[in-house]
Amino acid sequence: MHLILGQTLTFTGDPFHADPDDVVTHHSQGAVAIDGGRITDVGPAEQLRTAYPHAQVTDYGGALISPGFIDTHVHYPQTAIIASWGKRLIDWLNAYTFPEETRFHDASHAQDIADTYFDLVTANGTTTTVSYCTIHPESVNAYFGAAQSRGLRVLGGKTCMDRNAPDGLRDTAQSAYDDSKALLEKWHGQDRLSYVITPRFAPTSTPEQLAALGALWGEHPDCLMQTHISEQSEEIAWVADLFPQARDYLDVYESFGLVGPGALMGHAIHLTERERARMLERDVSLIHCPTSNTFIGSGLFDMGGLMAEGHRIGLATDTGGGSSFSMLRTMAAAYEVAHLKGTTLHPAQLWWLATAGSARAIQMEDRIGTLAPGMEADLAIIDLASTPGIAQRSARANSLWEEVFPTIMMGDDRAVVATWANGKPL
Ligand code: GUN
Ligand code: ZN
Repeated sequence: MHLILGQTLTFTGDPFHADPDDVVTHHSQGAVAIDGGRITDVGPAEQLRTAYPHAQVTDYGGALISPGFIDTHVHYPQTAIIASWGKRLIDWLNAYTFPEETRFHDASHAQDIADTYFDLVTANGTTTTVSYCTIHPESVNAYFGAAQSRGLRVLGGKTCMDRNAPDGLRDTAQSAYDDSKALLEKWHGQDRLSYVITPRFAPTSTPEQLAALGALWGEHPDCLMQTHISEQSEEIAWVADLFPQARDYLDVYESFGLVGPGALMGHAIHLTERERARMLERDVSLIHCPTSNTFIGSGLFDMGGLMAEGHRIGLATDTGGGSSFSMLRTMAAAYEVAHLKGTTLHPAQLWWLATAGSARAIQMEDRIGTLAPGMEADLAIIDLASTPGIAQRSARANSLWEEVFPTIMMGDDRAVVATWANGKPL
């Protein structure tokens, strides 16, 4: 039994559809009790100290104890090419991404990058990632192996591409099916790992490959499926060219059995009315990648409008199209993008998106994303005065959210005092 002391912060509901004050639970002198990788109790520190007098205590003082951050769309193989200059999506893929991804046939390169990646994200308070790997099974093995050795709950899959990609970075419809199936059988449900069926996006898969992966998903409906949709105008025009019979981008995926609950659709910026309505009807998850969407010049996600319609939305860095490994920086970008679209996001909404909201978007809200008895003990411990600039601002705060907001807007890995996964500090 372990008692962790600090300011506890968690949600009991969705602050987009309720008053934030009604769905947040905050103890300014709080405690989280942990036993065997699970949270067993959350409450005022005094009360828990009395209840568990023999517990081992770790006291984080005034730091915030939050559920660990959940990053719902990343490409770990792009770690080393993050912040590559000057190109829009298609040229960026061809110039920077594909050459780097080609290197992942080498298991030792994949291992090195996976280790670097998880060191970076856990230093940023992220405890769950949903990653695209590369076409190479070695890249999937490296990703899951590195997560498993750290005790992390992560999701991911082999990225499938059988056209419009360079030599050394294409599979086939059949090998994509066979390799994905073998990797799924090897990793899905092992420890805290989940396999995600992963066609990269419509332009890099033939109709045969999309059909094969739709069939695989049909055979394994307990897996999630991830892909990209409507990120940039040139991409959308290309998809219309490649699939002239489809009504729109979503229809391409739907015609191959790739639309439904458990589909994670990355970016989802330039959607038609029909696509929005259909995604809602089929309970698809939309994944917002704000630092990527500004960095690559893709556009402004309509958080206000989509939330009002009732969509299931997750938040993500989209490493390395995104320009940061930090979910704090990502919350700040989500705030700025929503503001440009005329919606002012409350700090509670931003924090929820990075924790409980993202857990819900990946159908893991019964295990991660909140602090409550029975939940897995993944925590981010956040210093709300981590730099002189943030400290002088938070010192003026008159409320919890005023104290938290400067860290959302200006915080980075210096704000992360500790990260716990599966009941242990990393
Ligand atoms: N669309 C297809 N592949 C990618 C990728 O790797 N990153 C981004 N941002 N968009 C994509
Ligand atoms: Zn992506």
